[in-house]
Amino acid sequence: MTDQRKMRLGLFVMTAGHHVAAWRHPEAYRGDMFAEYVELARIAEDAKFDMLFAADTLSSRIRHRDVAEHSAHNFSTALFEPLTLVSALSAMTSRLGFVATASTTFTEAYNLARLFASADHISGGRVAWNIVTTADDESAANFGMDQVIGHDERYVRAEEYVRLVRDLWDSWADDAIVRDKASGKWLDLDKLRFHGHEGKYLKSAGPLNIPRPPQGHPVLVQAGSSGPGRDLAASQADVVFTAGTVKDQAIAFYDDMKARAKGFGRDPDQLLIMPGISPIVGSTEEEAKRRLTELNEGIEIDVAVESLHNFMPDIDIRQFDLDRPVPEINEMTQAQQSRQKLAWDMARREGMTMRELALWFSGTRGHNTIAGTPEQIADRMEDFFNGGCDGFNVMPMLFPGIFRDFAEQVVPVLQKRGLFREDYEGTMLREHLGLPRPDLD
Ligand SMILES: Cc1cc2nc3c(=O)[nH]c(=O)nc-3n(C[C@H](O)[C@H](O)[C@H](O)COP(=O)(O)O)c2cc1C
Repeated sequence: MTDQRKMRLGLFVMTAGHHVAAWRHPEAYRGDMFAEYVELARIAEDAKFDMLFAADTLSSRIRHRDVAEHSAHNFSTALFEPLTLVSALSAMTSRLGFVATASTTFTEAYNLARLFASADHISGGRVAWNIVTTADDESAANFGMDQVIGHDERYVRAEEYVRLVRDLWDSWADDAIVRDKASGKWLDLDKLRFHGHEGKYLKSAGPLNIPRPPQGHPVLVQAGSSGPGRDLAASQADVVFTAGTVKDQAIAFYDDMKARAKGFGRDPDQLLIMPGISPIVGSTEEEAKRRLTELNEGIEIDVAVESLHNFMPDIDIRQFDLDRPVPEINEMTQAQQSRQKLAWDMARREGMTMRELALWFSGTRGHNTIAGTPEQIADRMEDFFNGGCDGFNVMPMLFPGIFRDFAEQVVPVLQKRGLFREDYEGTMLREHLGLPRPDLD
């Protein structure tokens, strides 16, 4: 039997669904939030998903009353603090991994190292950290700052931060706690490995007061796509989340990230690229497209424009005429540069007006939408998987129905083609992803 390369699958959860109008759909979840997340985690685990991903924002994003009152996404993406959520979910599952988002700007490094080390112990080694730098001034204002740190510097600081967190996790050798009842010796201080950090941005005396996490380091996820974002991911991350719809660009991104990883002296196979996809299953292609149209009917144009504005709040896109082609914009946002570029490129390629761009973007915020039969969706995934990615971050537009259909109808097709696991091979997230446990030298 050949050892066929397997794709990785993550479930990206978000309130009623990734579509901006999901919450208005008759079949949408009703807001019994924790129970709904438990149901989604169980569907994902039954389908043998690698992990469930909880995103985060650190502000309510109430900029314009008319929009804020009509948009579930502007209020909050996740509704719960992610690590609290995934810690609880991990106790209700046994194999599924969990990715929780936390900010390098607005969380103390020592505290973050403690939180993720704890969650990794509690879950038996099933936790990952989605490293974000936080890109919006509304969040900064909640933490006593007038604005976020400038784009490129955020990443330089984040790299020092991630290195510090790793070192804190490595504070103690795996066998530092001796627990020798006969001699009365609890701890071997010779196994202490952290002796303080003082860098350009951060300072910590250490060591961590929690034993080394079961995975050594919780899995590291990063989603920056600009030059500095890519370098942070390629040097530090295990998994890269990204957005995009064009296969040639996906291949170029994939090749670039693997080359960067190699440039940092890493094995490129240990950097997994997982773009988002938003599948909508139907018994026919027409039925799948009808489901998408049904969701789109709930979109209010101001809410759609705001969903794009959220990615570039420092550029006043609300002033643009909705029914004219999107104007040429040379100004670069300090927020999410790669998503800004993705949106403008799409508009230009397709000759879109601002209204068309906003409506398209609010479906899944620039991620790939595939509406079709289970076989058609599997075909597109297989095509992308051959050269453009190592797996997918699945972003259903509506919970739970659209995700359940994917899990029950598309996953079996992928399994039959040998592209996805039939069962978990291990218990820890690193094992699911085929990533080694970091050694202490
Ligand atoms: C799938 C995906 C999930 C993300 N989740 C979050 C999140 O939860 N919180 C956050 O502040 N940023 C999130 N981001 C934004 C990234 O951290 C980053 O700011 C963005 O991709 C822009 O990167 P760039 O500035 O390098 O272009 C996410 C991005 C992607 C593609």
